[in-house]
Amino acid sequence: MQSRPETQPPALQLDKVSRRFRAGQRVVSVIDGLDLRIEPAERVAVMGASGSGKSTLLNLAAGMDRPDEGRVEVLGEALEDLAEPALTQFRARHIGLVFQDFNLIDSLDVRENIALPLWLNGMDTESGRIAQLAETLGIASLLERMPDQLSGGEKQRVAIARALVHGPDLLLADEPTGSLDETAAARVLDLFDRVTDESGCALVLVTHNPEAAAFCDRRLDLRGGRLHSS
Ligand SMILES: Nc1ncnc2c1ncn2[C@@H]1O[C@H](COP(=O)(O)OP(=O)(O)O)[C@@H](O)[C@H]1O
Ligand SMILES: [Mg+2]
Repeated sequence: MQSRPETQPPALQLDKVSRRFRAGQRVVSVIDGLDLRIEPAERVAVMGASGSGKSTLLNLAAGMDRPDEGRVEVLGEALEDLAEPALTQFRARHIGLVFQDFNLIDSLDVRENIALPLWLNGMDTESGRIAQLAETLGIASLLERMPDQLSGGEKQRVAIARALVHGPDLLLADEPTGSLDETAAARVLDLFDRVTDESGCALVLVTHNPEAAAFCDRRLDLRGGRLHSS
């Protein structure tokens, strides 16, 4: 782990965050006064029943969705203060998000999908970083394919490569081994291990996989709209 100054802000901080959705006539409180603080390089597993709000929580942390109440800060930056396009820029620079349903762009091939954060940052797309990640994730032979020519597990690994290619400070991964076999899942955890260790990137890992959860520093359970130590 890199040495960091004492004043380093948390990688992620949520203060009394709430998010409600309308379901027909009813309003459902999915996230309800939730607090969370994650330090740089810290790894936190978030578990919870299906529908408990795990994906909603990650979307709020990434600024893909806005809370109804409360405050979300990433690296000390309040996301509510950022309007588009500054929010997209901030995300492209600092956050890696592995969506549960991958969210690959159908009109771009695998290499271009992985390169997206580099483009958004004006970073070099020829640095070898794409090839290196693709090799590690076992998708090196797929770089010229289109997303509709990939299996679910292949798409998931492309989404993981895209989330890591720009060297984020905060990696938010939504069940990132959900579509992978044991070997591929172990490789992904290995990669996350190395990245968090070497770069000081913090990790929020939504998972149902006990092995994945065990690899984290803390395990939290999302229940009743809040996080509980488990
Ligand atoms: N955009 C939305 N509009 C309405 N309801 C939503 C929306 N997003 C999520 N929900 C609801 O919020 C609840 C939590 O969803 P989600 O965060 O996907 O749970 P999890 O990831 O833990 O399975 C579910 O009941 C879901 O239907
Ligand atoms: Mg989910």
